[in-house]
Amino acid sequence: MLDLILAILHHLLIFALVGLLAAELALVRPGVGSNGLKVLGGLDAGYGAVATLILAVGFARVFLGAKGSTFYLSNPVFWAKIAAFAVVGLLSIMPTIAILKWRGRAKVDAGYVVPQAEAAGVRRALWAEVAVFALIPVFAAAMARGYGL
Ligand code: HEM
Repeated sequence: MLDLILAILHHLLIFALVGLLAAELALVRPGVGSNGLKVLGGLDAGYGAVATLILAVGFARVFLGAKGSTFYLSNPVFWAKIAAFAVVGLLSIMPTIAILKWRGRAKVDAGYVVPQAEAAGVRRALWAEVAVFALIPVFAAAMARGYGL
């Protein structure tokens, strides 16, 4: 039963993360101003929280799941999945810093809008996250079926 609950939570959290990433991509545009930046700040904080929960639930699946931790920890495909997750995390640092910076500027200047070049840089990082993210379910499906053992 615990295995089932953790698997359900894992999937729901993953969908939430994808939704938050897509919403960030839709909002990060040149010209976004104070109101949009508030929403963006909330989305980004949610993204960090959901990613942390995925990590917690993921490791709970490793150590409390039905297959036992050796099944995963001894499999390089599991570690490839974790590495891809870590790269997505690293790629998300730059957008978070930029959003915090933009929000700070919008607080002191009500008419502030995000410049074209900065929005483009953050969008590149977000798309890179999407690209690396796509590898994770590939590794997940292979690892679940024992490929790599
Ligand atoms: C956003 C990041 C993640 C995504 C998209 C993701 C995706 C998936 C998917 C699609 C499955 C189902 C595989 C299948 O049954 O075919 C799965 C299973 C699993 N994931 Fe994740 N995962 C993520 C993060 C993590 C993390 C960080 C961990 C561990 C620290 C983890 C541990 C597991 C475990 C233990 C399973 C169970 C595999 C099995 O049934 O044997 N996941 N993941």
